[in-house]
Amino acid sequence: MSPERVVSGMRPTGALHLGHYHGALKNWVRLQSEHPCLFFVADWHALTTHYDSPEVIEQNIWEMVIDWLAAGIDPSQSILFIQSRVPEHAELHLLLSMSTPLGWLERVPTYKDQQEKLADRDLATYGFLGYPLLQAADILMYRAAWVPVGEDQVPHVELTREVARRFNHLFGREPGFEEKVKAAIGKLGGKRGKQYVELRTRYQEQGDEAALQQGRALIDEAGSLGLADRERLIGYLAGSRRMILSEPQALLTEASRMPGIDGHKMSKSYGNSIAMREDPASVTKKIRTMPTDPARVRRTDPGEPERCPVWQLHQVYSTEDTRQWVQTGCRSAGIGCLDCKQPVIDAVVAEQQQFLARAQPFVDDPALVRSIIADGCDKARRIAHETMRDVREVMGLAYR
Ligand code: TRP
Ligand code: SF4
Repeated sequence: MSPERVVSGMRPTGALHLGHYHGALKNWVRLQSEHPCLFFVADWHALTTHYDSPEVIEQNIWEMVIDWLAAGIDPSQSILFIQSRVPEHAELHLLLSMSTPLGWLERVPTYKDQQEKLADRDLATYGFLGYPLLQAADILMYRAAWVPVGEDQVPHVELTREVARRFNHLFGREPGFEEKVKAAIGKLGGKRGKQYVELRTRYQEQGDEAALQQGRALIDEAGSLGLADRERLIGYLAGSRRMILSEPQALLTEASRMPGIDGHKMSKSYGNSIAMREDPASVTKKIRTMPTDPARVRRTDPGEPERCPVWQLHQVYSTEDTRQWVQTGCRSAGIGCLDCKQPVIDAVVAEQQQFLARAQPFVDDPALVRSIIADGCDKARRIAHETMRDVREVMGLAYR
């Protein structure tokens, strides 16, 4: 397992739907067996836009965690927690706010976009402007290497990188830094030390990202270094300061191809979604009444799968054989639309049976979910304590 940490969060928006599963969640499930992962409920982020309806957030949290567990997020592999239960996130957010230029936040595309989109809410607030900086704190707290997010969130990860860089530049200064780096290079040993210097030159002179990655790996593998030397070498590799907070990278989640039951993107706010846990009768009805190729008015009219949202469902759920059957049958009017929908209905219902079965113990025993989260919060807090100890120290706050 790679030691590079993965961090991601989700706002508690209520029961999750199949678009969430086939987008973010399936990706998280895959990542948890490859990396140490932290997944959290971004309840403070939800408050930035829904500060006037806190009761909704409270109900949604537990439903959402059960959906994560139903999807296969495994608490013995991943750390699951709630943002507000690790108040260090707020402290880091505050401390980062001291040195973050206002313009950086005003320029984040989601700031204006969301204000326009959610025009019924007053989002001219301090909290909403700070949304991406709070997100930066979430990520930097765990010194994450990777942040799985959708395309809309990439600018937030970019901002996080800039915030980390600026922080390290301002607070990673250290008396005698160059000498300490030289000594640390010495500890790497002759061959490794020489390689390190070469990789640094390649990165600094040619901006070669691969060299940066290799340099980091080389430091990771060097057993003879203490933590402070490691931070110096990582910082020196990319710049001329000690690295306190590490720059993460976005891991772009491929947009889910899951259409809603009206053919548009599945979204709770469009009222076109199928929940991850929904009863089979309701799923059957929703899919049976889905629109199909508008040109196929009568059963005898041939159709074109490319113009039909049901075809998109086949692409998510069906085998190659079934897809072949759809293509041929649709274009020759050999099959009817209800025939065509049946394998999709069966596949969705079968998938949901798994979710329902995995969720049942947690639905029956809410204390079980609470204890998983309590345990995750403890683990997250332990990492957060380490980061905050370093951050307070370099910011001159470690009074004794
Ligand atoms: N802003 C993210 C969203 O709306 C949620 C989020 C909050 C997040 N903090 C995060 C995602 C940290 C990744 C990492 O989807
Ligand atoms: Fe769509 Fe299938 Fe009907 Fe063709 S047969 S129009 S793919 S539902």
